[in-house]
Amino acid sequence: MAQAKRIVLASRPVGEPKVSDFRLEECPLPTPGEGEILLRTIWLSLDPYMRGRMSDAASYAQPVPIGGVMEGGTVCEVAASNNPGFAKGDIVLAGAGWQTHAVSSGKGLRKIDPALAPISTAVGVLGMPGMTAYTGLLDIGQPKEGETVVVAAASGAVGSAVGQIARLKGARAVGIAGGKDKCEHVVKELGFDACLDHRDPDLAAKLRDACPKGIDVYFENVGGAVFEAVFPLLNFFARVPICGQIATYNVTEMPAGELRTSVLTRAILTKRLTLRGFIVYDFAAREADFLRDVSAWLREGRIKHREDVVDGIEKAPRALIGLLRGENFGKMLVRVAQRER
Ligand SMILES: NC(=O)c1ccc[n+]([C@@H]2O[C@H](COP(=O)([O-])OP(=O)(O)OC[C@H]3O[C@@H](n4cnc5c(N)ncnc54)[C@H](OP(=O)(O)O)[C@@H]3O)[C@@H](O)[C@H]2O)c1
Repeated sequence: MAQAKRIVLASRPVGEPKVSDFRLEECPLPTPGEGEILLRTIWLSLDPYMRGRMSDAASYAQPVPIGGVMEGGTVCEVAASNNPGFAKGDIVLAGAGWQTHAVSSGKGLRKIDPALAPISTAVGVLGMPGMTAYTGLLDIGQPKEGETVVVAAASGAVGSAVGQIARLKGARAVGIAGGKDKCEHVVKELGFDACLDHRDPDLAAKLRDACPKGIDVYFENVGGAVFEAVFPLLNFFARVPICGQIATYNVTEMPAGELRTSVLTRAILTKRLTLRGFIVYDFAAREADFLRDVSAWLREGRIKHREDVVDGIEKAPRALIGLLRGENFGKMLVRVAQRER
């Protein structure tokens, strides 16, 4: 009998997740009922938010229950269909999670045209991370020509798009990334004006030198020490889209830091700063604009993207642990299966 595989949450991690917090299970291939389709996962996206779903701390989304299939965005092939809206072989964007197969009613799926771009981009630069960069930067950051935009995790899925879109809007883009290779890629391949290593003990001084006119937009992906280095350099009326805080996702206690609440709020007042948190779904109404603009930029070669691929669903736990440590170099993906045709 054909088998499917899935990875479930075995236990809630304390601090950094361990491979034993996940469990690989084999189960019979599910059978689609009336009006349903069988999905076969080709690509599974690994994203930092998954660390949040492993925890039961209060958040904007429900945690994965213990024993539940890990949540995740996927690009799937329709393997069988009892739904007239889908044919065998169709490629769809789905939230099938960490499993090789899933049954769906078809609701919420988006068909992907493989002729337009590699299908993996539907969970990368043309998917959730790309839309996060596009909306957070343009709708909250609102960079103007000649302004300075700073973004950390700059070689990653979101940060790489943020800097490149900032440049397309005529701003200067300064990246912050982990290590020499990532920084070189950010400048030489992605065209940022500068990139600094966040592990450099002189980060604050080097950032000041790289931003001689101060910072007008800081796209916050990281928090922690990077935010501390950026904050004194923010210009009057600077905008700070708060997108992520990856430096704190595995911590069991928040770091002390210099920015006590009154110091922070006084600076927000006197410099008239705008700090706004957002979740990409807040901007769902902008999806058509995002797809139109970023698809065109990609086609014209004005935006580049890099993928970091591991093969086999069994590798997903280790790859997520690595992503949270900065071991990925580009959009983290699991190739779960090859396409049939
Ligand atoms: N608000 C939303 O709707 C939304 C949607 C998508 C993503 N996000 C957030 O956006 C951020 C980037 O996500 P992504 O998918 O593009 O991931 P990514 O950048 O592809 O991968 C994560 C990167 O974070 C960096 N990092 C990890 N720990 C760090 C630390 N202590 N200090 C500095 N950098 C650290 C590492 O890069 P380096 O090696 O360069 O340090 C790592 O490669 C995350 O915070 C994520 O939660 C938010």
